[in-house]
Amino acid sequence: MKLTEEQKQQFDWDGYLFFPSLFRPEEIKVLMDEVPALYAQRRPENIGEKTANAVRTNFAAHMYSYPFAKLARHPRMVEPIRQVFDEDVYMHQFKINGKQAFDGDVWQWHQDYGTWRADDQMPEDRAMNVAIFLDEVNEFNGPLMFIPGSHKLGVLEAEHDLTTTSYPLWTINHETIRRLVERGGIVAPKGPAGSMILFHGCLVHASTSNLSPWNRVSVYLSLCAVSNHIRCFKRPGYIAHRDFAPIDCLPDDCLLRHYDVPLPWKDGTPAEELQGSLRAT
Ligand code: SIN
Ligand code: MN
Repeated sequence: MKLTEEQKQQFDWDGYLFFPSLFRPEEIKVLMDEVPALYAQRRPENIGEKTANAVRTNFAAHMYSYPFAKLARHPRMVEPIRQVFDEDVYMHQFKINGKQAFDGDVWQWHQDYGTWRADDQMPEDRAMNVAIFLDEVNEFNGPLMFIPGSHKLGVLEAEHDLTTTSYPLWTINHETIRRLVERGGIVAPKGPAGSMILFHGCLVHASTSNLSPWNRVSVYLSLCAVSNHIRCFKRPGYIAHRDFAPIDCLPDDCLLRHYDVPLPWKDGTPAEELQGSLRAT
């Protein structure tokens, strides 16, 4: 899948592109069928919510789950990113966020590249975020919110918030958010399961808690230009990957047909990938 000139221009202005229903229901079903078993596993890659018995995020499923290993190599997701960077990309981070009905907690206002720079020493913002909706995202179940154009400002000052949720995050203060929103407003792309968003590593984003009775399971991937690989391995390998090999795409029908993919962490996460701190400082 290639981006048109118009889409490239739009991405440059807004910092994101939305592709409603990019994946078909039968493709999403293959992924969704796997999620309950992944969330039930007792692995360090499952991070619970702070105050509820619900999974907030599952890391690195592409290393031990067959359908997600195929998704990680999907050309509909990888090719436009390669096009933007004009370079091969590797998987920096792979997570499945639960945002479970009633229990799904907030993600405070932040930029992802702020974290990658501070914690992982990623040299430049040549890494792209992808969100793929496994559930419908509607106005009630905690849609991802963006401040369009905020990526143009580069890395903003941030504070390391270790307390609001179970997962530490470099967050942007309210005064800055107020100023950015006056300038760019807020958008929240919503749509059926199978929709995809590409968004810039410096785009300011957040999501509210999910008080609705509907889960909002989404896959969030971060793909980094190979030459821009991280230099510091302070966080565990399952959060910030240390394998910089270029992603080799599978054919477009990969979610519905069998293809051989490696599952190197199927029998457990190697000890060296567990070392490091969630609380990178
Ligand atoms: C993220 O910013 O990485 C996740 C946000 C969300 O799940 O809403
Ligand atoms: Mn983020």
